[in-house]
Amino acid sequence: MIERPPEANGDLARNRLRDSRLGRIEWVAETGSTNVDLAARARDGAPEQVLVTDHQTAGRGRLDRRWESPPGAGLLVSVLLRPAVAADHLPLVTLVAGLAGVGAAHDLGAHEVTLSWPNDVVVGVDDRYRKVAGVLAEAVLHGEERAVVVGMGCNVDLPPGFAVPRGNDPVSLAELVGSPPDRADLLVAYLTRLADGVARLETEGSVAVVAEARRSMWTLGREVVVTDGGERIAGRAIDVDDVGRLILETARGRRVVAAGDVRPEGGTS
Ligand code: BTN
Repeated sequence: MIERPPEANGDLARNRLRDSRLGRIEWVAETGSTNVDLAARARDGAPEQVLVTDHQTAGRGRLDRRWESPPGAGLLVSVLLRPAVAADHLPLVTLVAGLAGVGAAHDLGAHEVTLSWPNDVVVGVDDRYRKVAGVLAEAVLHGEERAVVVGMGCNVDLPPGFAVPRGNDPVSLAELVGSPPDRADLLVAYLTRLADGVARLETEGSVAVVAEARRSMWTLGREVVVTDGGERIAGRAIDVDDVGRLILETARGRRVVAAGDVRPEGGTS
């Protein structure tokens, strides 16, 4: 559902985030990919800012997948961040974004939403999950400078029967809370939590972020399969370390995984 014209959605969000580091917000009707757009701006030295669109014609997902969402059916947002953190803490920005997505869903009443490591926003259904939102974080290095573009696609009000080719079983916030939430409200909730989380990472380091991840994570305690490049690692997810990596107990001992696609053992979602 397109609640109001993109400029009006942008005005609304900008007004409510006037004092935030993420108050520089542009909301457009359509673009190829908000991540690609902000990565180009980052390379030109642009400051922290937010780009939202009602529709993407070439939305990018993780692992070279596409992110498909009909016009107005999702919150499609990218954030150009220049976080003041050490290089080995950059992956934690991705975790912070996933946690911000979980928190924003809770703020709008979807309290059952949780995090599938590292940054899928999901609802657990027995030993499987349905995906509410996904995060794609991309580092941009230009000269001596470094930026991160964090994109989130959140299913807000997908049409009945909408399916993702090769992807996870999707679920909309509308289905979880009974009616479609306003995407400007969702954006403000997400950006507020993202700005807070990044600030906390900058000032306190990883401890608080990792503690929150441990509390909010669907993955911990489950038998999962992690695909990392060509490697397939099966085991029980037992913890997250202080730089956000997943620790697995496998048949051959402990493995620490920095990146990868996590699925429930035996599941497709
Ligand atoms: C995933 O595969 O789970 C991550 C999906 C990320 C999609 C979002 S939509 C806004 C931003 N722009 C893109 O092209 N991708 C991200």
